[in-house]
Parts: sequence; structure tokens; C-alpha cells
Amino acid sequence: MSNVKFLSGENIPLEMHKVRMVQKINLLPVEDRLKCMEEAGFNTFLLKSRDIFLDMLTDSGVNAMSENQFAAMMQADDSYAGSETFYRLEKVLQDIFGTKYFLPTHQGRACENIIAETFVKPNTFALMNYHFTTTKEHIMKNGGTVEEIIGDEAMKITSDNPFKGDIDVNKLKAAINRVGKENVCFVRVEAGTNLVGGQPVSMSNMREVSKICRENGIMTVFDASLLADNLYFIKTREAEFKDVDIKEITREMMGLMDVTYFSARKLGSARGGGIITSNEEAYVKMRELIPLYEGFLTYGGMSVREMEAMAVGLVETLDMEIISQTPIFVEALCNELQARGVPVVTPPGGLGCHVDARAFCSHIPSDQYPAGALAAALFIASGVRGMERGTLSEKRLADGTQPTASMELVRLAIPKRVYTLSHIKYVADRLEWLFKNRELIGGLEFVEEPTVLRFFFGRLKPTGDWAGKLAAQFRKDFGDSL
Ligand code: F0G
Repeated sequence: MSNVKFLSGENIPLEMHKVRMVQKINLLPVEDRLKCMEEAGFNTFLLKSRDIFLDMLTDSGVNAMSENQFAAMMQADDSYAGSETFYRLEKVLQDIFGTKYFLPTHQGRACENIIAETFVKPNTFALMNYHFTTTKEHIMKNGGTVEEIIGDEAMKITSDNPFKGDIDVNKLKAAINRVGKENVCFVRVEAGTNLVGGQPVSMSNMREVSKICRENGIMTVFDASLLADNLYFIKTREAEFKDVDIKEITREMMGLMDVTYFSARKLGSARGGGIITSNEEAYVKMRELIPLYEGFLTYGGMSVREMEAMAVGLVETLDMEIISQTPIFVEALCNELQARGVPVVTPPGGLGCHVDARAFCSHIPSDQYPAGALAAALFIASGVRGMERGTLSEKRLADGTQPTASMELVRLAIPKRVYTLSHIKYVADRLEWLFKNRELIGGLEFVEEPTVLRFFFGRLKPTGDWAGKLAAQFRKDFGDSL
């Protein structure tokens, strides 16, 4: 955000863009919202977009695009091999990141598939600040084990640590000593650590991690999907970088990492993905899998129009006014909620505001999925769709047990430049009402439980008729209001 002070002294997130294309959204009555939730098996992933008022499920593929991104889509060169579009995008990536090689993929998890199949051997360990759902699945599928070595502070819901995504270097060294450096397939650093609340990683931490890995001959993999938020936090929270150009910060990071990948559904506000590296050997190994899984090397499963939009979106990532919008809106929502007593993850991170469902629904046991129940209850109370990020998102083990997630969060993602301040205030208002009526929320149990990534399309039911009672209470308290 630009330096704009308000006379009142209020800290208002001021949008540095204007809206020139809009999409109408519907707010259904609470009785209809309840019906939609029942039809969706109490899983917010199974709701239909037309029934949702504010879609805060994710920022993936749903960020607002700029006029320049739309304009660029018109000049796309649709050829199977050797497309001009590819060379334009490759040049942008080389210019921003300073890396030599680019492998296009259809989205972030496709990069994970290729990286895991190339580098994860059975019985090896992938050490990382924290897992992401699809990342972990790909590593396990290739016989590897994911070990999280994030600092302890990350597991504290409230904290004033500005870089809760940092790797604990002592844990890193201990893990290398314990499993042996030859058994570490790679160390993965995730920018804007998603599952702990969109928490950033500092440059000083990346420097240390990189040094240790290089001393031990261990490859570093960087997940840059949430890099834009992370860059904002490095500039605003890491004193050394206050006046350093974003491109310079980005290039320093790339120099520390061997292989970088990203979901361009997030980074670059388009739809697609890519792997970049300056390591020729790694590039050549991974390259073989692109035509097999993705498409020819010059499109990798992406539409060339999206590639053009991505190229412009990535250049826009270097603009502080553009990348600050999500973090300042996340902060605004966190502040609104904290002022109303609703427990949230602090400090505010990127990506979205994360509500602490374990504290919010302390009466619901973990095996009845408090975060899943809260996400369902929030939709009934408001038409706002959030995402469960807790035990429901964990994988059930082969012996039938399910790990209890370290945190039970409901993520209210803030897609870039999509919603306004009144939307934020509405979310805070309905969550406050829900918090006051939290005893009405009950647990969930599975009706249909898929074995892989069960949170995506598993179906659940409430333990008892709490959902109906919640809707009735809403009607009583809000009269004829939607
Ligand atoms: N890595 C991170 C850190 C992510 O947040 C995601 C996706 C991926 C990898 C996979 O990328 O979706 O393009 O295949 N996160 C989305 C989300 C789905 O809602 O947080 P993808």
C-alpha cells in the first residue's frame, strides 16, 4: 500500500486499483444455505459457486487479473511446439528470477509430481519447513517420508514472530545427522508457508538453510507459489531489505535454491505452473517427464493465453503496490476479528485470515473435525466459503488411524483484488455472531471417505441436528435479513 495517512489516524487498507469489470454474486437465505451445505455433504469443496456469496476457499486461479494481463492474452501464439508465447514467458522468468531453464506444467502439483518422481527415492527423507497437502502426497507416493523442521513458534496460534515459516536450523542439522545426508532427497522451503497460516520465511533463514545444504551436498527445492506475499513481508519485516528492490530480493533467493517451482494459479495470477532452475543436470532429468505428463516442452499443458497472462502477472509481482493488497486485507480482517474476540492466527500472514477452530469450537473433539464443522457453520451463517485446514486435511494411515493435525484452522483466503472492505466487514460480522453462538456448532463424521486427499471430495454429516438449529437461531436473531 502507498503511504497514505488518514486524518482520523485509522489504518484503512486503501486499494491502489479501480474495478472495471464485475461479476454479480448471490446471497441466498439461510434456509437455502443450509440446504446447499447438506447437499454438499458438509464439505465446502462440494458447494456450487452459484450458491456462494463470498468465495474465500482459495486464491488459486481466482485472483483478479489486470487489464494488461487480459490484453496480453490476445497476442498468444498457439503452436504445439516452439510457440513465441513460450519464449516470451521464458525470457520474463529469466529476467525476474535470473535462472536459466524453465519447464512449463499445468499447475503447481504437476511440478511436485515431476520433482518427486525425479528426486524422491524409496526410503529417503524430504525435509521441509512444513508440508503442503499435494506435496506430501507426491513424496509419499514415491516412497519418501516428509519431515517437518519448522520452528516451534509456527505451531503457536498467537505469536509476534514475523517469520513463523522459518526452518529451525538446529532441527535441520539434527535431521541430517540422524538420517544421513545421503538419505535426504532434498530440503524444501515453502514461501508463505500455507498450512501454518500463510507465514513467511526470512531471507536470513534461507541463507542459513542453503549454506547447510550446500555443505552437505543436499539439493534445495523452493516452492514459490506464495512468493508474492513472502516478498512483501521480507520488505516490510526484515530490516535489511526495506530499501532493496523486489527483483534483487527475488534473485538473491534464487541464488540460494537449486530448483524452484510455483503454482501460477497463485504466483502471477493466471492458471498454470512451472519449474525453474540453473542446474543443467536437474533440468535434463526433469525434462523427460514433461512430455509424458504435461505436454510438449513449450506449453506443458497450459493454454498459451494463460502463459501470456502469467508473463505479465509475474512482472506485476515486482510492484509493491500490487503485492501488498492481499497482506493488508488479511491484516484488516484479522484485526476486525481480534477486536471482536474471535481467535485468529497472528501475526497476520499472506493468503488469507486463519481462524483458530480448536479455540473457537473447543467443545468439538479433533476426530469430529472442528475446522470442517466451523467452515460448514460459517457458510450456513453467511454464505461465505472458507476452507478446512486441519485434521480433515490429513491423510488416514494404512493402519486406519488418522493423525491429529497440529492446528485446526479455517482459512478465509483473500483472492487478490477481488473483494472490498465492506465484504471484509461482513465476514467479521457473521463470524462474530457465530462465535457468540459457537455452542450450537457440533461435530462432523465421514459418510464417504476417499483414500487420497479425502478433504477434496469426501462427504460428511453432522453429529446430530446442530446445523438446523444454527439456521433457526440465525433466522431468530436476524429477522428477515439475508
Ligand atoms: N504449493 C503451495 C504452497 C500451494 O499453496 C499450492 C496450492 C500448491 C503447491 C499446488 O499448486 O494448486 O496449482 O496444483 N494451493 C492451493 C490452495 C490449492 O488453495 O492453497 P496447484
